[in-house]
Amino acid sequence: MASIEDIGIDLGSSNVIIAERGKGVIFNEPAVLAVNHTTRNIISMGQEAYQMTGREPTGITVMRPLQKGTIQDFDLLSLMLNYFVMRVVGRQLFNRPRALMSISATSNEIEKRQLILRMLEAGTRRTQLIERPLAAALGANISINEVTGRMVVDIGGATTDIAVISSGEIMARSILDTGGDAFTEALIRYIRLKHNLLIGWRSAEDLKSAIGTVDVQEQNALSLPTAGRNLVSGLPRQADITSQECAEAAEEPLHALIEGLHSVIEHIPAELANDVFDEGILLTGGGARMRSLREVIEREMQIPVHVADQPQEAIALGCAKVLERPGDYTRILGDGRRR
Ligand SMILES: Nc1ncnc2c1ncn2[C@@H]1O[C@H](COP(=O)(O)OP(=O)(O)OP(=O)(O)O)[C@@H](O)[C@H]1O
Ligand SMILES: [Mg+2]
Repeated sequence: MASIEDIGIDLGSSNVIIAERGKGVIFNEPAVLAVNHTTRNIISMGQEAYQMTGREPTGITVMRPLQKGTIQDFDLLSLMLNYFVMRVVGRQLFNRPRALMSISATSNEIEKRQLILRMLEAGTRRTQLIERPLAAALGANISINEVTGRMVVDIGGATTDIAVISSGEIMARSILDTGGDAFTEALIRYIRLKHNLLIGWRSAEDLKSAIGTVDVQEQNALSLPTAGRNLVSGLPRQADITSQECAEAAEEPLHALIEGLHSVIEHIPAELANDVFDEGILLTGGGARMRSLREVIEREMQIPVHVADQPQEAIALGCAKVLERPGDYTRILGDGRRR
């Protein structure tokens, strides 16, 4: 394996994304493990484990170590991190890469130290941590050291992280537990109630990405045959789900998201609010890929909204970018361990 440059890591609840300094994204896999719940043996991780979702053999559970913005299972999380980073870094005895990581969950100092230690074991030289909104902004090519206030909204799987940044600092922040997953859950609920059809998580995710929209006013109707289990007969059945239905299903989480944005803007000083009105809102995270989300937020809030070029990869790319010129960002980097 060729030697690897420094790496930026976004340790998310849905996906772990790793970007290499100067190269871009080199790793992107679901943050899941398939575990035998009696022996706690790990059967598989990442993409391979995700494929098992909804069709797990008896005794095996596909689980996410990070959920709802908190660490559900620290041991599994650190094992997964170690394994993913080892796969990327390989056996590099010299020139071990530095790493910069953003963790989506609230974690205490002990947990942070443990994760950093796991990174060392996986073959990195030094790991530092960075706040998610700062990394997201950098990954979207926004310079964070200016005084002008910028609003960055990262819509992940479990959470939506709303922040207003100015002079390299987070001036206001609110983390909602409505992320992309809430839209998937709402879609499953909607189809169950309307069609008496119980669809699995992966089918709902596929539906959401393929034809989903959050705009009930959208005209170009698409539809997709979706398989599930009929709740009356108990038998497998298919129904054609339309993009209009996806938009109706999305109403509740969408409302929560917009409420959350309003609430942050209402509580920031007038100068910063003016900046946000001028500069607009930046959307990052996988959830920012939901069709028409940008347009709907713009319409509802009367503020310009931009989506990062690579929304889902923005945080990892931002981390890798800091590593290009770490000297410029010493103030915003968390503590790290050197070896
Ligand atoms: N094309 C798409 N259309 C709609 N939603 C999408 C698309 N691609 C990804 N998503 C959604 O993005 C979410 C995952 O985003 P992301 O990878 O940023 O999460 P994460 O960083 O792992 O989570 P968190 O930041 O909450 O810990 C999921 O809810 C997924 O359904
Ligand atoms: Mg994230």
